[in-house]
Amino acid sequence: MGRFYITTPIYYVNDAPHVGSAYCTVNADALARWHRLAGDDVKFLTGTDEHGQKIADTAERNGQSPQAWVDHIAPRFLDAWRNLNISNDDFIRTTEPRHFQTVQAFLTTIYENGYIYKDVYEGLYCVSCEDYYTLEASDEGKCPIHGRLLTQMQEENWFFRLSAFEERLLAYYDEHPDFVTPETRRNEARSFIKGGLKDISITRTSISWGIPVPWDERHVFYVWYDALINYLTAIGYGRDDDEVERWWPDSHHLVGKEILRFHCVWWPAMCMAAGLAPVHHVQVTGWLLVGGKKLGKTMDADAPVKVTDLSPSSLSAEFGVDPLRYYLLRETILGNDGEFSLEGITARYNTDLANNLGNLVARVVSVVSSKCEGVGPAPDASSNLRVTAERVVEGVQRAWENFAPSVALETTWELIGATNAYLEEHAPWKMESGPEVARVMGDALEAIRLVTIMISPAMPSVATEIWRRIGLSGVPTSGPFASCARWGLYPGGARVVKADALFPRIVESE
Ligand code: MSP
Repeated sequence: MGRFYITTPIYYVNDAPHVGSAYCTVNADALARWHRLAGDDVKFLTGTDEHGQKIADTAERNGQSPQAWVDHIAPRFLDAWRNLNISNDDFIRTTEPRHFQTVQAFLTTIYENGYIYKDVYEGLYCVSCEDYYTLEASDEGKCPIHGRLLTQMQEENWFFRLSAFEERLLAYYDEHPDFVTPETRRNEARSFIKGGLKDISITRTSISWGIPVPWDERHVFYVWYDALINYLTAIGYGRDDDEVERWWPDSHHLVGKEILRFHCVWWPAMCMAAGLAPVHHVQVTGWLLVGGKKLGKTMDADAPVKVTDLSPSSLSAEFGVDPLRYYLLRETILGNDGEFSLEGITARYNTDLANNLGNLVARVVSVVSSKCEGVGPAPDASSNLRVTAERVVEGVQRAWENFAPSVALETTWELIGATNAYLEEHAPWKMESGPEVARVMGDALEAIRLVTIMISPAMPSVATEIWRRIGLSGVPTSGPFASCARWGLYPGGARVVKADALFPRIVESE
């Protein structure tokens, strides 16, 4: 049994979550669920990033104190994730006392290790990114991501000696080829380091909404410096060394491509400066796009849909929670960008879910009801479907382990397709009741049992419902996968349950 500690980025609470934030959370959730199914000891963390100028400004614009504002928005993330059936084990808010404690302990260690010093900082700043830009890296003085005018800042700050870590980081990358995936992102991080690292300003005096610097209380930590440390807060850094030792060696961060530099350059250097090994693995994700542009709060007014229409709750009300999860996981290869569209989700729903999966379950339950007196027969050990099933099970396992939910689902659908083809070939609905029908239906039920287990990380509620319909007791997620995904475990004698269509077709409006 292994261990698996997975985290999402913590989300800014300047607004309620949209489907772009849901994208990362749903992927992390499916991976966490897969590892639980595989029998691993899992910890899944998500949360909210509540400090910094952006939040302070948003609160002010809304006529509220920063604390009142974050207390108002954070529950909307909790609600959104509950609605999407997200199985996080912890939810961190950076305004919690436990986080103050860890941040102060971690940064004091770096300070005492001699990697923090005082200097004056001057530069162009984007409040939306909470990041500095050089004039060259800007888009003629505007933020290359948000298109907003950058502001000139000058402050006396404490600095982190990032420049001292160039060699160590490069050596670390060489020794750990899988530290950052996909490889293109690894190369991007490496070339960033190779291009030379400048020290970074890690405190602010211009705002007070942040975590105080323990050795100089006029300063608060710069929001990114506070935020990155959340991954250690949740496993008890500075409070419970055993927990850190337990989880940190098997830690995985899922992060969007625009925050690669923070996670793949700064963060490992900070850990090294504190005398801690860097996170085990960073999986970089791409963006969901609408009309070719990043789906988000700063989306163009002329985008084909409004971001407010893309709230996870309105989409799940329209399509169902599991179909939305399925679409987010299946449509885009983790690491690539992918276009999000209502036509796209409708097409996946109608084809993969209604026509393929839903139809398969419906026709098997119906034939078992009419030709086998409603009682599912046992599968045949030498079934033709078995070969496909075993290949699929192996491929699915590999894909989930490689952080490739889309491939895992695509592969699972090969077994759905093969089972539908098997039924077409034998046409049990045309046969007389008897051993031949029983053989075909036992095999089909076994294939559905395997499919149900394999889809459970993506569509937990649908999986539970199919499990019930094919007459099985317990839950499809009890695992461990290696033993429950062997061919032949569908027990003959289970009574199947007829019910409404799992995925009623969506009729597209003209
Ligand atoms: N607060 C920082 C992260 C700190 S982690 C120590 C932050 N927050 S964010 O709310 O702006 O973004 C959080 C995550 O959501 C990022 O990984 C980002 O890539 C992701 N997404 C936001 N919009 C997205 C899409 N349109 N598509 C996919 N992911 C998106 O950055």
